[in-house]
Amino acid sequence: MKRILVIHGPNLNLLGERELDIYGKVTIKEINEAIKKEAKTSKVEVTIHQSNHEGEIVDLIGKARKKYDGILINPAAYTHTSVAIRDAILASSLPTVEVHLSNIYKRESFRQQSLTAPACLGQVSGFGMESYILGFQGLITSLKDNKMS
Ligand code: DQA
Repeated sequence: MKRILVIHGPNLNLLGERELDIYGKVTIKEINEAIKKEAKTSKVEVTIHQSNHEGEIVDLIGKARKKYDGILINPAAYTHTSVAIRDAILASSLPTVEVHLSNIYKRESFRQQSLTAPACLGQVSGFGMESYILGFQGLITSLKDNKMS
């Protein structure tokens, strides 16, 4: 069975309370339940973490190589700042998909650049909770059909 690591970056623990006009009412618990349901349907194993700390995310990715087959990540604000997370993704050599609830390309200019996406297989941005599910499905498809990775 394929094993997927899901990482939620900083402040995503506050979903459902923070900037409701941008992120909506969905909570991290609801997102995690939807991911677990999708994992069951797709017959893959999933482990989910949330961290507000860049170094902790780097460590999670660093340790993932031997334990997982792929990573789904919403690096949140670190998307736009973190060379360390980008390098960790590259060093892991694991197929990684980046997701965002909001469409980062129609927001403030500082959000329109992702430092992490070029290290990833692909990115899904702008579909709310569905971004996670679409990204998860894309990652699984790529693991089953190695042509994409
Ligand atoms: C986000 C977009 C980021 O710019 C922001 O810092 C977040 C959430 C999203 O999912 O839309 O925290 O990653």
